[in-house]
Amino acid sequence: MLLLYFSIANILDVAYTDPPNGLCSNNSNYTDNSPFQNNLETVMSSLSSNASVSKIFNTSTGIDPDRVYAQYMCLNYVTHEKCSTCIAAASQDIRTLCPGDKEAVVWEEDCQLRYSNQSFLGSLDVSGNIPQYNAKNISNPEDLSLVVNKTLSGLIKKAAFDPSANMYATEDGPFTNGDSFFSLVQCSTDLSPNDCYKCLEVAIKNVTTCCKSSRGARIFSRSCYLRYELYAFYNSTTESNQTMVTGKGNKSEIWIITISTVASTLLVVAILGSFFYHLAMKTRMRKCKDSFYEIH
Ligand SMILES: *[C@@H]1O[C@H](CO)[C@@H](O)[C@H](O)[C@H]1NC(C)=O
Ligand SMILES: *[C@@H]1O[C@H](CO)[C@@H](O)[C@H](O)[C@H]1NC(C)=O
Ligand SMILES: *[C@@H]1O[C@H](CO)[C@@H](O)[C@H](O)[C@H]1NC(C)=O
Ligand SMILES: *[C@@H]1O[C@H](CO)[C@@H](O)[C@H](O)[C@H]1NC(C)=O
Ligand SMILES: *[C@@H]1O[C@H](CO)[C@@H](O)[C@H](O)[C@H]1NC(C)=O
Ligand SMILES: *[C@@H]1O[C@H](CO)[C@@H](O)[C@H](O)[C@H]1NC(C)=O
Ligand SMILES: *[C@@H]1O[C@H](CO)[C@@H](O)[C@H](O)[C@H]1NC(C)=O
Ligand SMILES: *[C@@H]1O[C@H](CO)[C@@H](O)[C@H](O)[C@H]1NC(C)=O
Ligand SMILES: *[C@@H]1O[C@H](CO)[C@@H](O)[C@H](O)[C@H]1NC(C)=O
Ligand SMILES: *[C@@H]1O[C@H](CO)[C@@H](O)[C@H](O)[C@H]1NC(C)=O
Repeated sequence: MLLLYFSIANILDVAYTDPPNGLCSNNSNYTDNSPFQNNLETVMSSLSSNASVSKIFNTSTGIDPDRVYAQYMCLNYVTHEKCSTCIAAASQDIRTLCPGDKEAVVWEEDCQLRYSNQSFLGSLDVSGNIPQYNAKNISNPEDLSLVVNKTLSGLIKKAAFDPSANMYATEDGPFTNGDSFFSLVQCSTDLSPNDCYKCLEVAIKNVTTCCKSSRGARIFSRSCYLRYELYAFYNSTTESNQTMVTGKGNKSEIWIITISTVASTLLVVAILGSFFYHLAMKTRMRKCKDSFYEIH
């Protein structure tokens, strides 16, 4: 049933328009073979190797006025391998989407990448936030709005002001009709706690205006990221499986341990769950099947 749940989740996920999404400045062209372009090529070709070690990274190359500042951020739950793959794609896409631009940002499924001719580290930027919603609508949008507002207002405080959270926080919990609510927020760690909070506050405002009738939504911002769904989009089983396949040596050992831990946790949850929700089981099964048929 869990597997069925995750396959439904993956089908739903495809309902989004595919990344990459880019924002270009359009007003500051560099020319072919200029020092700026050479610096940009140098930076862009090196970032994916850094991404196999660091999930958030900044650098700069060259001297003014041709200096290139760059920063990327992977979503905290993705593996280093995925982060590196994502940044490799982003560093290509950003040049395809914004050719000649001295400033640009691109958002992929698992990461975001920015560059500019001027330093932007430490400054909050919520201009051009891009909302994206799950194409599948929800039958009780008011209930979801309440949960979104309540859960996310707590979550963004934790992400911004709890130093151990390091500007990343997730929360899941029960929703209506046997569904569960999963949410995630993340800030660029060069921001101050106050700016992280402001960024995520704007992101909440944006989701409440754009995406009320939808089952899930994300906000792509230069300075932060916010997403919620009615399925586990972080730490999902497919994520672990893919890591197992590509992992090597110590890494796969760690993953085997992680997966066994998760599996035993799930078992305990399942036993407790069937005990407490024994009576509700039949209705839930029916609901699960219904949503499976809806998709086909
Ligand atoms: C840049 O140009 C693209 C394509 O012409 C346009 O869609 C986009 O809105 C422009 N961006 C800005 C910041 O003006
Ligand atoms: C930048 O380049 C694009 C495409 O080559 C061109 O359409 C645009 O007019 C240029 N903008 C400036 C400010 O030079
Ligand atoms: C960055 O490029 C823009 C447009 O060409 C220019 O106005 C600005 O002064 C540049 N900034 C720096 C720090 O070179
Ligand atoms: C980032 O990558 C470059 C090129 O591979 C390397 O020279 C540099 O040491 C790396 N930086 C960090 C902090 O890993
Ligand atoms: C979802 O709801 C919105 C607003 O109520 C509507 O415009 C849209 O067509 C609906 N989409 C689907 C797939 O039902
Ligand atoms: C969200 O909750 C805050 C308090 O936490 C409240 O002030 C605000 O009006 C709520 N917004 C919506 C859209 O329900
Ligand atoms: C930029 O990257 C360096 C490592 O290359 C790191 O020490 C520094 O903290 C980063 N700065 C910010 C503001 O994130
Ligand atoms: C996000 O919210 C801010 C602040 O309310 C607003 O200025 C901006 O236009 C919103 N962006 C989108 C895409 O809704
Ligand atoms: C996801 O994984 C991270 C690190 O492995 C862990 O800290 C977090 O609790 C996990 N979250 C869920 C919902 O399983
Ligand atoms: C994991 O993925 C591989 C290929 O991507 C597939 O062959 C295998 O059946 C999957 N295993 C599980 C347990 O889902």
